[in-house]
Parts: sequence; C-alpha cells; structure tokens
Amino acid sequence: MIHTLTYESKAIKELTIADIEAILETARTFNGLNGITGCLIFYRRKFIQILEGDKAKIHDLMEKIKQDKRHRNVDVLSEGPTENRNFPNWGMVYYPIDKNEANQNEYEQFKRNLLLLADLTVHSNQTAILFWKRMKLLVAEPPDVS
Ligand SMILES: Cc1cc2nc3c(=O)[nH]c(=O)nc-3n(C[C@H](O)[C@H](O)[C@H](O)COP(=O)(O)O)c2cc1C
Repeated sequence: MIHTLTYESKAIKELTIADIEAILETARTFNGLNGITGCLIFYRRKFIQILEGDKAKIHDLMEKIKQDKRHRNVDVLSEGPTENRNFPNWGMVYYPIDKNEANQNEYEQFKRNLLLLADLTVHSNQTAILFWKRMKLLVAEPPDVS
C-alpha cells in the first residue's frame, strides 16, 4: 500500500528563486531514487506539497522537511494509505516568478492552469482531495493590499 501525505507551510522572507531551484533539484534526485512522487506548489510565498510512497520513507523525508530552515509553520493537513498513486509521473510544479515582478497576464494564466490541473487530476483519496482543495483556496485568496 502506498502512503500519501499533504502539508502546507510558509516560505521564510529571505527565500529566493535560487533556494526554490535548489529544493526542486534535491527533491527530484532524492524522490526519484526513493520511489517518492507528488507535487509541490509554491504560490504567494506558501508551499503546498503532496508526497506519495513507502510510509517509512515519507515519514523520514517529512522529518527532514520539518527541520528545513527555508520555511516555517509546517502543518500536516492529511495523511493515509492509498491504493494508487495520484501523481505517478509527476515532478514538481512551481511558478518561478515573484508576484510583484510577474506580468499580470502570465500570473492569471498560471492560476488558470493550476485550476485546470486540479480538475483534470484524479483524486482517489482524502489526502489528494484536501491537497487540491487547499490549492484552490490559496489561488482564490484576494490579492494582498501591501
Ligand atoms: C517546501 C520544501 C519541500 C521539500 N521537498 C522535498 C522533497 O520532496 N524531497 C526531498 O528530498 N527534499 C525536499 N526538501 C528538502 C529537505 O527539506 C532537505 O533539505 C533534504 O531532504 C536534504 O536533507 P539532508 O541535507 O539533511 O539530507 C524540501 C524542502 C522544502 C523547504
């Protein structure tokens, strides 16, 4: 049985695009070698990630992720067994442009793509359902006034 877990967290203020690229690099290598699949979304300085794989491996990885100084407020939203992976061939999805620098059209397009992705992806368990629900909530948040 595959184990799946989803959490959200907040990036530290100092986090840069280079940090995200380093995280993706580590994740792609480690996850690939350890049969871990999933999806990482970075949007408005928040991370939402879903992981799927061997239960012990997911828990070990989660311990490292919780200790990671590049984010805080790591909050596990849901976890449990699942018959099938929801993201068998997935890497990590992310948006590399900061909102303030992004061109508005590009930003709106990214939002539409994420929502489309949510609708097209099969959600076969509670954890995956929650992952997409949180992502939709995040995307629907009204813009910051700051
Ligand atoms: C938001 C976020 C998501 C991460 N996702 C993964 C991941 O999926 N796989 C992974 O190996 N490391 C991931 N990392 C990096 C780990 O926290 C950690 O740096 C990595 O496991 C290497 O740890 P080590 O240097 O102690 O071996 C993530 C870090 C952050 C901040």
